[in-house]
Amino acid sequence: MSLRGWLKERVPVDLDRLSEVTNEPVPGHLKRWWFALGGTPAYLFLIQIATGLMLLFYYVPEPGRAYGSVANISQNVSFGWWLRSLHKWSATGMIVAVCLHTLRVFFTGSFRKPRELTWMFGCLLLFMTLAEGITGYSLVYEQLSYWGATVTANLAGAMPLVGKFASTFIRGGDEVGPATLSRFFVLHTAILPIVIVALVAAHIALVRIHGMSDELRFRDQVNEPKTFPFFPDHLLTEMMIALTLMVLLDVVAVMAPAGLGDPANPAITPEHIRPEWYFYFAFRWLKLTSLKVGVLGTFTAALVMLFWPAVDAGLRRLAPKRELNILFGILAVLVVVVFTIWEALV
Ligand code: HEM
Repeated sequence: MSLRGWLKERVPVDLDRLSEVTNEPVPGHLKRWWFALGGTPAYLFLIQIATGLMLLFYYVPEPGRAYGSVANISQNVSFGWWLRSLHKWSATGMIVAVCLHTLRVFFTGSFRKPRELTWMFGCLLLFMTLAEGITGYSLVYEQLSYWGATVTANLAGAMPLVGKFASTFIRGGDEVGPATLSRFFVLHTAILPIVIVALVAAHIALVRIHGMSDELRFRDQVNEPKTFPFFPDHLLTEMMIALTLMVLLDVVAVMAPAGLGDPANPAITPEHIRPEWYFYFAFRWLKLTSLKVGVLGTFTAALVMLFWPAVDAGLRRLAPKRELNILFGILAVLVVVVFTIWEALV
C-alpha cells in the first residue's frame, strides 16, 4: 500500500478538496508588496515564537534572578546574544509591519463594509502586539524596564471604570512586587501569544471569506493578471519577503545586539523613565496633559480606531463627496509622527 493510501485510511480527509479550499486564487494586486504586508507580521511573529521558546530554556522569571539570567543568555549561552537580538528586532519589525499594514488598509478604505470585523480583529491584533512589547520589555528587569512596568501599572490604574481592577491585576497586588514579574511573564509567554494566534486565525478567515477588497479598482491601474495561484506563486513572494527579512534581521542583530542596562533597583527612581520607541507618542501626550486626561485621551483614541468603520460610515453620510477618512488619517499619522520625534529628541 502506498504511503498516501495508508494515510488516507487513517486520516480520511479529501486532500483534493482541501487543496481546492486552501489554494484559492489570489487577486493580481497582491503582487505589489505593500498590498501583501499582512503576511510580514505573521512571519515575524513566528520568528518571535521560535526565538522566544529558546530563550525560555535559560530565562528565570524571579525578581532576584531575572536580570542575571538575561545577562547569562547574552554573555555565556552559545548564540544567546544572537537569539535575544533576533527576538528583540523581530518584535520591533512586527510592530513596524503591523503599522504599515494598518496604514495600507486605512488609506485604501479596505476596512469598509463588509470588512468591518476584519478591521476590528486587526485593531485588537495591533493592541495585543503592543502589549507583547510592554510585557516583554519588563521581563529584562533592568532599571528602565522595571520602572516601565511600574508606570504601566499606574497608567492602567488611571483608566476609566476598570482602572482599579486593571492595575491590581497587572501588579498582582497593590504594589509592584514579585507577583508583578510572574504576571508579566505569563501574559508575555502564554496568554498574549495564544490570543494573537486566535485573532490571526479569525482575521485571516475573514479575509478569505470576503476576498481582498476593491481588486478591480487596484487591478485596473497596472497590467497585472486578474488572479494568480496562492501556491506556489504567492507563497514564493511571501518566502522572498521572509528571506530578505531574515538577512536584514541578522545584519541588525550583529550591528546592534540587544543591550542590557543597570539591574532594577526599586529604591531608586531613574531620572529619565522612558518606554520603548513605539510608545513615545503616547508618553509625549501624557507629559503634555495630566495623568487622567492623558489616559482617557489614549483610551478614547483606541476606541475610535476600533470603531472607525462606523465613524467613517457616519462621515460619508455627512459629506459623501469628501474623503474625510483620508483627512483624519493624515492628521492622526502627523500627530503620532510629530509626538514620536518630539519625545525622541528631548
Ligand atoms: C499580527 C497582525 C496582523 C496580521 C498577521 C494580519 C494579516 C493579514 C493578512 C495576511 C491579510 C491579507 C492581505 C495582506 O497580506 O495584506 C490581511 C488583510 C487585512 N487586514 Fe490584517 N493583519 C494584522 C493586523 C491588522 C491590523 C492591525 C489591521 C487594522 C487595524 C488589519 C486589517 C486588515 C484588513 C481590513 C484586511 C483586508 C484588506 C483587504 O481586503 O484589502 N490587519 N491581514
